[in-house]
Amino acid sequence: MRKKIVAGNWKMNKTFEAGLQLVDEIIKELDAQPASEVLKIIAPPYIHLAAIAEKVILLNEFGVASQNCHHLANGAYTGEVSTEMIVSTGAKYVIVGHSERRLYFAENSELLSQKVDIALKNNLTPIFCIGENLAERNADKHLETVLKQLSDATFHLSASDFGRLIIAYEPVWAIGTGVTATTEQAQSMHKYIRSEINKKYGAEVSSSISILYGGSCNAQNAKELFACEDVDGGLIGGAALKAPDFVTIINSFPA
Ligand code: PGA
Repeated sequence: MRKKIVAGNWKMNKTFEAGLQLVDEIIKELDAQPASEVLKIIAPPYIHLAAIAEKVILLNEFGVASQNCHHLANGAYTGEVSTEMIVSTGAKYVIVGHSERRLYFAENSELLSQKVDIALKNNLTPIFCIGENLAERNADKHLETVLKQLSDATFHLSASDFGRLIIAYEPVWAIGTGVTATTEQAQSMHKYIRSEINKKYGAEVSSSISILYGGSCNAQNAKELFACEDVDGGLIGGAALKAPDFVTIINSFPA
């Protein structure tokens, strides 16, 4: 059985106070709709990490992620945050390679492979994001784009290290646009990603790795997306900022 996971990526939203309030609301909402077998992850801005980790530490299947990390261990890099620092807050996950980082901060596969390496070295689980943009989809290059993003940054890993990753497929044209991939588009891409992982690392790794869908996934469409055989959950942006919606998404897996 693959792990079912719903991760909320808050991006650059919520003040410290508003962030803690949102976590309280999520915890309260989960009392009403418990989802004990789903791993729930919150990825707030760096400044919230320690306080949120403290709030959720005793809860079942609950984790905290940073949205980014630096690729080096430490040093004179003003404004940056290392994986070791992230771990010291109690966070156990890190989003690596989100399309907004690739696009607005020019993060390329070489850099991302270093981030994956240092995260794993420090026992931080990467949630590694891949996804094509609209031009690539329209030119029928979505499969090769996604495979290249995945292989360039992660296929140097050993099978046991690769098996520690969480993968998130996030078509760029669906992020924050309100346009979701159809269930057919999501399922066929997830199946393709899993088959390429199978080719590289074998059935044991490919059948146990969780592949999340991201891109305008919300309380209305999560159910049909999570019903797809190769979709193991979601990486949620906008809808993760409202506690009832986020918890409805957490409860959207087939029984
Ligand atoms: P969205 O963002 O749900 O707001 O489309 C998803 C993401 O970027 O992780």
